[in-house]
Amino acid sequence: MSRHLLSISDLGADRIEAILDLSEKFAEVGQRKIPRVPALRGKTVAWLFYEDSTRTRLSFETAAKRLSADTMNFSVSTSSVNKGESLRDTVETIDAMGIDAIVVRHGCAGVPHQVGGWIDASVINAGDGWHEHPTQALLDLYTARTRLGDLAGKKVTIVGDIRHSRVARSNVLGFSAVGASVTLVAPGPLLPPSLEGWPVSVSHDLDATLADTDICYLLRMQQERQKRALVPSLREFRATYGIDARRADLLGDDALIMHPGPMNRGVEIDGDVADRPNAVITEQVANGVAVRMAVLFLLLGSGLDQLDDQMAAA
Ligand code: NCD
Repeated sequence: MSRHLLSISDLGADRIEAILDLSEKFAEVGQRKIPRVPALRGKTVAWLFYEDSTRTRLSFETAAKRLSADTMNFSVSTSSVNKGESLRDTVETIDAMGIDAIVVRHGCAGVPHQVGGWIDASVINAGDGWHEHPTQALLDLYTARTRLGDLAGKKVTIVGDIRHSRVARSNVLGFSAVGASVTLVAPGPLLPPSLEGWPVSVSHDLDATLADTDICYLLRMQQERQKRALVPSLREFRATYGIDARRADLLGDDALIMHPGPMNRGVEIDGDVADRPNAVITEQVANGVAVRMAVLFLLLGSGLDQLDDQMAAA
């Protein structure tokens, strides 16, 4: 694996499968009475989040702690960024304290890549603008594989604000890398301006698509990224593209309902649909810790041949 994880396209199908296999091993650590292994003892992981986050940040922090790494928390809102410090000076300041990896979230596409050029530490992209969110896609693949087995040939339908979604971009790349087919369903203004080169098909008939779907992946309206209103109203969006009980019933019995969070219940997903047994939204969150442990270990660990001993040590 390269030094950084910036995009799902940094990984081929083999590496994705290897990360998912390793995640399975680390999921077991989470079940232990003391959920901690010494695999990254002595390593330091820092966060640099310029955008809000609940799940991703807590998940990386839990993953690093379960691997016994030290963590360095950085909150933009209480930092010298407010005194005008540049991104580069901020990154070099954190790096000067001695870090092995930095997990970066930023509103601009390409920032994690840029950060990787400034420091020797590994950089993990935790979401850059509309571009990518690779660990989200990996935890989604892991969750889907755990429930459905081999994902080759499975049909994935992504519904909602795809245009502004880094999760959609990483998931299109991830699901197609493992042989699943992806259909996008959204009103025109919520699709990317060009889909050239995207390994997807597009449908405007949600009901017909749901009847032939193994994984229904929902996205919220990312209004903080929309410069102007792109749909007439949330009510209309809900009526045409929201998953209510009737639409959820169109899915086959084994089909999964997935969502990266944060959900807007009553808009893209109805509250009772989110709580159905085939909605795996909290499973995605739980699996995120194991998957991020796998990513951190592959970037910073001492190698897979030593892992079994480390898993056995307290
Ligand atoms: C997503 C994000 O921030 O990209 N959330 C997440 O990380 N689980 C999706 C979103 O904001 O809608």
